Amino acid sequence: MTERATPPRPHHKLTEDGRRKREVLSYSRRGSRFTPRQQAAWDLHHQKWVVTEETAADEDFTWEQAFGRRAPMVVEIGSGVGEATAALAATRPDVDVLALEVWNPGVADTLWKLADVGADNVRLCTLDAAWTLAHRVAPRSVEEVWTFFPDPWPKTRHHKRRLVRADFAALVADRLVPGGTWRLATDWADYADQMRAVLDAEPGLVGGEVERWQERPVTRFERKGLDVGRTITDLAYTAR
Ligand SMILES: C[S@@+](CC[C@H](N)C(=O)[O-])C[C@H]1O[C@@H](n2cnc3c(N)ncnc32)[C@H](O)[C@@H]1O
Repeated sequence: MTERATPPRPHHKLTEDGRRKREVLSYSRRGSRFTPRQQAAWDLHHQKWVVTEETAADEDFTWEQAFGRRAPMVVEIGSGVGEATAALAATRPDVDVLALEVWNPGVADTLWKLADVGADNVRLCTLDAAWTLAHRVAPRSVEEVWTFFPDPWPKTRHHKRRLVRADFAALVADRLVPGGTWRLATDWADYADQMRAVLDAEPGLVGGEVERWQERPVTRFERKGLDVGRTITDLAYTAR
């Protein structure tokens, strides 16, 4: 694994006098307080499914240890409340699904869903996905990456916060095994255009818009988009 060159939790970075640093982040700093139901999920299940930030940030850490086996790995970026995570992982017991989500309450909600479907092949981690891919995932080691409904950052002045940018695309292309697939979905037409432009320009990837991936369950974000009349775009790009 590579050395830790940047902080694993950029959203926790403080200035010397204790103020939060202004970073360009792909997520907003939402509250991390649990509802009673989320707290109950955490208390019951976190030891089974959550890899703590401290554990994953350790330089000797490996995902094989965390999953307790060596299997093809899928990385989900921004798993939210785990609707896709639990449904897809349950149908694919042969793969290990690493779900990265910085929002703790979403991780807690995911725990109920994993318990419901009995998906033992999932590990959740609240570290920043870009840091984790860069520093805790080896090149050419991931079978699939899933990025479903990434935060759209619709205001033009916020577009720089969108996750799917050239630097991130190059990182994902490098982490996928040759022939591995990055599956994406969005309900924002101009973000779909940006994704296509960025991914078409990435020399390590080949692909484009595809039919809806039928296995992908309809999440709350997709339903909200459909309810207000947006078109859903699915993309799939393969690593060369
Ligand atoms: C709009 S939600 C979509 C959630 C889920 N994929 C779905 O379809 O329901 C995007 C999620 O990505 C998470 N996220 C954004 N940037 C991230 C990053 N760099 N690392 C980990 N999670 C991130 C956010 O916290 C948020 O929960």
